[in-house]
Amino acid sequence: MVEFSLPMNSKVVEGISYSNEIKSEDPKKLKIYRWDPEKKQNPRIDTYEIDKKECGPMVLDALIKIKNEVDTTLTFRRSCREGVCGSCAMNIDGVNTLACLKPISDIKKDIKIYPLPHMRVVKDLVPDLSNAYKQLKSINPWLERKKDQAINELETKSSQRKEEKKQSPEKRAKLDGKWECVLCFCCTTSCPSYWWNGGEYLGPATLLQASRWIEESRDNQRKERLKKINDSMKLYRCHSIMNCTRSCPKGLNPAKAIADIKKAIVTEL
Ligand code: SF4
Ligand code: SF4
Ligand code: FES
Repeated sequence: MVEFSLPMNSKVVEGISYSNEIKSEDPKKLKIYRWDPEKKQNPRIDTYEIDKKECGPMVLDALIKIKNEVDTTLTFRRSCREGVCGSCAMNIDGVNTLACLKPISDIKKDIKIYPLPHMRVVKDLVPDLSNAYKQLKSINPWLERKKDQAINELETKSSQRKEEKKQSPEKRAKLDGKWECVLCFCCTTSCPSYWWNGGEYLGPATLLQASRWIEESRDNQRKERLKKINDSMKLYRCHSIMNCTRSCPKGLNPAKAIADIKKAIVTEL
């Protein structure tokens, strides 16, 4: 029988346990994935203890407290601490989510924290998102106006009159459920199709963005956008498994956005 095993240096080992020297009133343990590419050692799980009475309510508050008071080498991304920048995405208690939106009180046992799955790790809880950003760029996530004569004339006239490109409330409403995406990639990194085909399959976050620009009434490249994305690898690796929608910390539905793109391709191209 064939036996598969991980290379020795990829096995996650037991790490350092930092005990809290001051007696905690309400202790909570965090077990955190650590890996430093410069140290050439196996990844490890370090254990920290915080006093919930002395800490903010969210998992990000606990991470910041540990970094400030216990171990300054702990590395993670964060910025807004209120769910709008998307940078504190990580795997907490087995689920991809934003650390700043995840209450500590939701987790009854020790809090286990890993980087987003199936991405190369830069250090500790920081994943390498280069490929995901490259894929995002490939769908031109910005407003495009066709450069034909009629539009040029129209735009020249309207810019002379200093007019905005208006959008009706009904057309604006079509962007609801799409514009709120903070590009945290929790969905993409929970998608089994992306795990196996991430080089070519665009993944739910980028496809949700694609649908945001396909539905944009002020953009006039709808057909071209649909044609560009109509590809067996870029789009049709989605098999409606729905992990993406289940993991979105902003409550969005990328699986539906993907289904809407497929429907538009069938009915419009
Ligand atoms: S619905 Fe599609 S994008 Fe979402 S997890 Fe499943 S395969 Fe991935
Ligand atoms: S759809 Fe949700 S999970 Fe996916 S990138 Fe946007 S906010 Fe994050
Ligand atoms: S810190 Fe910005 S989303 Fe969490």
